[in-house]
Amino acid sequence: MSDSYLIKGGKPLKGEVILSGAKNVALKTIIAALMFKGEVILKNIPKINDVLDLIELIKSLGAKANFIEKNTLVIDSDNLKSNRVDLQYGSKIRVSFMLFAPLLHRFGECYVPNPGGCRIGARPIDRIINGLKTLGINIDYDSETGYYHAKITDKPKGSYRFDKPSHTGTELLMMIGLMSDEKVEIDNIANEPEIDDLILYLNSAGANITEEKNKIIVRKSPELKQKEAFSIMSDRNELVTYATLAVASRGDVVISPIDENLISSFLEIMREAGAGIEEISNYKYRFFYKGEIDSINIETSPHPGFMTDWQPSWAILMLEANGTSVIHERVFENRFSYVDELKKLGAKIDFVDVKVENPEFFYHFNFEKEREYKQTIKIQGKEELHNAILNISDLRAGAALACAALLADGESIVNGASILERGYEDFVEKVKKLGGEIKKV
Ligand code: EPU
Repeated sequence: MSDSYLIKGGKPLKGEVILSGAKNVALKTIIAALMFKGEVILKNIPKINDVLDLIELIKSLGAKANFIEKNTLVIDSDNLKSNRVDLQYGSKIRVSFMLFAPLLHRFGECYVPNPGGCRIGARPIDRIINGLKTLGINIDYDSETGYYHAKITDKPKGSYRFDKPSHTGTELLMMIGLMSDEKVEIDNIANEPEIDDLILYLNSAGANITEEKNKIIVRKSPELKQKEAFSIMSDRNELVTYATLAVASRGDVVISPIDENLISSFLEIMREAGAGIEEISNYKYRFFYKGEIDSINIETSPHPGFMTDWQPSWAILMLEANGTSVIHERVFENRFSYVDELKKLGAKIDFVDVKVENPEFFYHFNFEKEREYKQTIKIQGKEELHNAILNISDLRAGAALACAALLADGESIVNGASILERGYEDFVEKVKKLGGEIKKV
C-alpha cells in the first residue's frame, strides 16, 4: 500500500479548514466507553489510524464498535469477554495502557502490555504505575512477557500526588477513581483541556468528578450510562499545523471550530511573530500572511503554556522568519526527529547546548544527570528550501515535514504517511482544498 506523499511545494495555501475531532480526546472516550453500561454514541470521532487501531483493539476484547456515519461511532461493550490486551496492539497503540481502568472495572484483574507509541523519548509510565499502586491496585510487571498484571482485591481508594504531572496519567487515575466506593483525590494533575472534555463526557453519564486547584476529586458515582450522544472537542494540534502552514506559505486560511481560550498561548506567540490573525466569528479564525515574520523563541510547557505538540509546526514557521530563533523542548526528550530531515531541504538548524539551572525540575521528563540530552535547537530563517526525500518517524514531526515540503521548491517525497495519519484526518484532501499539490504514492 502506498505510504508516501508526493508534494510539489512553493504555493501559498488559501481556503478553509474544518477541524476534525481531537485525537487525544477520541482515544480516551473510546477507552472509557468500556466502563459504560449499554450503548455509547460518540460524535466527531476522527477516522485516523490511532482511532482505527484502537477500535480493532477493543473489538478484539469483545466490544462492538461501528461507525454509523463518517464520524459517529457507536460502542457497546456489554459483552466484553477478554481481560488481556494482545501484545500486537500494546506495542502499536500507546494509550492501550489506559485499558487498565475499564478492564479492572469489568473483570477485577487484567493483563496489559508495556506501551509503545510515538518515538519521542523513553516515555516511561512509572508515575502512572506508582499512582495505581497508591490507590490500592496490585500490579506486577513481567519483563519476560512484557506484560503488566493488575488485580483489585479491595476497591481503589485514597489519594495520589504526581511528582510531575502526566496528561494520560491524570486521565487513567481519574477513571480508576470511578471504581471507588469512597472519595479519590489526584493532586498535581495535568491541566490540558482534553482532560476537561473527558471529564465532561464522564460526568454527562453520571460520574461525579470535580476539579479544584490542580486537583481532581472523584466521588462515588452510579454505574455510567450515556443519556445522550457526546460530541468531542476539535483538535487544537491540527489547528496549529494549518495555521502555521497558512502563514509560512504566505497564504490565507480560515479555520473552525475552535475555542480561543484553548489556544491562547499559540495566538499570543503568532501575533508576536507578526502573523495576521482575525476572528471572523465565534469559533472561526483567519490566519494570514501580512508581511515579514519575526523570529520568536519558544519554550514548550504543559497547558496553558506553548504545547510540546506545537513546536514542530513552530519550527516550520520559523524557517520563513527573519533572523534566528530558538526552540527549547521541556516536556519530552527526543522530540526533534525532524531536524535532520529538514536539513535535507536546505534548512539551517542546529542543536545548541543550553545550560539550565535545576534541570530535574525544569524538564517534565525524568531527567538523569549522567545522560546527554538534545533539548534545544536554533533555526536560521529565510534559507531557500529545495526538494528532498524525507522520512517521518513520529506523528507531529511528520506533519511538520509534510508542511516543510509544501514550502520547498520542487517535488519532494515524504515517506511514512501512515504515521502522520495516526493523528491527521483527511490530510491530503484538506491540503488539496487549500490549493496544495499533494498526492499519495
Ligand atoms: N512521564 C514519565 N513517567 C510517567 C508519565 C510521564 O516520565 O509515568 C514523562 C513523559 O515521558 C513526558 C512527560 O512526563 O516526558 C509528560 O508526559 P505526559 O504523561 O503528560 O504525556 P502523555 O500523556 O504521554 C499526552 C498526549 C501527547 C501530548 C502530551 C502533552 C495522548 C494520547 N498523548 O501524552 O500527545 O504531547 O500529553 O500534552 O493524550 C500527540 O498527540 O502527538 C502526543 C504525543
